Amino acid sequence: MKILVTGGAGYIGSHTCVALLENGWDVVVVDNLSNSSREALSRVERITGGRIEFYQIDLLNKPALANIFKQHKIEAVIHFAGYKAVGESVEIPLQYYHNNLTGTLILLEVMKEHRVRNIVFSSSATVYGNPHSLPITEDFPLSVTNPYGRTKLVIEEILKDLYISDKSWSIALLRYFNPVGAHETGRIGEDPLGVPNNLLPYVAQVAVGRLPHLNIFGNDYETSDGTGVRDFIHVVDLAEGHLKALSKLAGNKGVLVYNLGTGKGHSVMEIVRAFEKACGKEIPFKIVPRRPGDIAACYADPSKAEKELGWKASRSIDDMCKDTWKWQRINPNGYA
Ligand code: NAD
Ligand code: WQD
Repeated sequence: MKILVTGGAGYIGSHTCVALLENGWDVVVVDNLSNSSREALSRVERITGGRIEFYQIDLLNKPALANIFKQHKIEAVIHFAGYKAVGESVEIPLQYYHNNLTGTLILLEVMKEHRVRNIVFSSSATVYGNPHSLPITEDFPLSVTNPYGRTKLVIEEILKDLYISDKSWSIALLRYFNPVGAHETGRIGEDPLGVPNNLLPYVAQVAVGRLPHLNIFGNDYETSDGTGVRDFIHVVDLAEGHLKALSKLAGNKGVLVYNLGTGKGHSVMEIVRAFEKACGKEIPFKIVPRRPGDIAACYADPSKAEKELGWKASRSIDDMCKDTWKWQRINPNGYA
């Protein structure tokens, strides 16, 4: 069984490639390396002893993408490729819409032309906007507050329309909560370009001495300690969720939607303390004003994925911090 992984050199993609190879899939990766490194895939090969067929191709290049479908008998696609920085998407919305939406449309056109109709799509908890209550179930109302989130919501709708037009598609929309952590070997992990936007990579770079201190964006939220609460999920648990979704797609036409989270909320301050325990150092921090657009708290009800996919996250925040730290300690400058 051969799978195409778009964006497979990226953070979640590389961890998912490990899980795919370990489960007997033949893996073809398409990535333009705009936010990743070829080295990640070499390391995936070393971790698994497997081989990846890699193409440095942009999804916007339709002829090049079509060639891959001609050369390989692809059974299914996992679609990770896209831009993902919320703040940047507000500054350069057209680039976000072009890359994420046009890239997806071209991928779907090529899939259709080659009669490949199984796709797992990386959606996000961002499609729930500011939820009216917690935990969040898949049937909550959807709303978005920034161009990045809008690309996720629109792609979900495009995929639903596609199924309405042709009932032979099998589609899974996986809404990730806050993916963190790294492979337990410390050989692959999250390697953001420039100053990290997200909490865990920022904390890890403070711990390793690349950044002087963490800015905590607000301690006056209505949460247990005033700092923001999120559903942090270990990237290896998330990767395993993709394997379960693929098994489910095999016997199921339609559009399936799942939250991939742990169901537990942890505050920013709890993460700082857990990371201090993992790295054995103090993490200096300053409390600064709230970050515009942030919500107080967000966590999943992941019971649908447990019931229908047989998937449940098993790794704790201590595992997430331990593995993030191992990756950062061994690779203080990421893949560079
Ligand atoms: P990432 O940036 O590490 O991976 C995305 C990959 O796609 C990168 O390797 C990048 O080079 C590639 N890419 C981007 N545009 C491309 C194009 N036009 N053609 C070919 N390759 C292209 O991001 P990630 O954290 O691994 O996220 C993977 C997916 O999951 C994204 O779609 C993201 O929006 C989604 N997601 C991520 C998070 C998160 O917090 N990390 C949360 C929810 C959803
Ligand atoms: C987590 C908490 C911050 C950095 C984002 C996207 C979301 C999804 C996951 C893609 C918040 C606080 C953070 C820092 C801080 N991605 N924080 N100091 O915002 O929940 O979700 O990534 O789909 O769409 O919005 O994640 O890691 O940025 O923030 O205090 O330097 O940490 O305020 O409470 P977020 P995050």
